[in-house]
Amino acid sequence: MFDLTSLAHMDLGILGGTARTAYGEIQNVNSGLIAWKAVDGQPGNYIKVLALDHSRHRVDFLFKQDPHAEFARHNHVCTAVALTLEGIWGYREGEELMFPGTFSYEPSGSIHTPYASETGMVVYASFQGTSPVMLETLDDEGNITGELTLDFFAQYYDAPQLQPV
Ligand SMILES: [Fe+2]
Repeated sequence: MFDLTSLAHMDLGILGGTARTAYGEIQNVNSGLIAWKAVDGQPGNYIKVLALDHSRHRVDFLFKQDPHAEFARHNHVCTAVALTLEGIWGYREGEELMFPGTFSYEPSGSIHTPYASETGMVVYASFQGTSPVMLETLDDEGNITGELTLDFFAQYYDAPQLQPV
């Protein structure tokens, strides 16, 4: 996803060969060394959890959709931000399209169904909530069919090994 060939002659330091470092609460992640994981129950949707902070009700992640994939309609029980890195995607409920460089800011209460165009898509996203609940999935009538909590994201998260400070 990130092309490092132009930096191939440079010293990239410890993260050049290590997926994660942690120094106390400070974490650094080389997302290129983390594998995509299929999102349970959401065909064509994949995630790399970058950081998961239960104490602050926060998760940061990369999200990928295959061409024409869709994610369940949901309500945000958190503030969500997303920066599109690859591809073209949108929400079924709106006309707008997102593409590399576009940024979305979505307060709690946003309801939508993200789908990818024929290009597929990759975004960096961050959810910041006030409880462990991040999303409520909804059926077509708006009834809540499930909750995505921080524990849902935790199943895709490989916690970093602590480095000596
Ligand atoms: Fe959303």
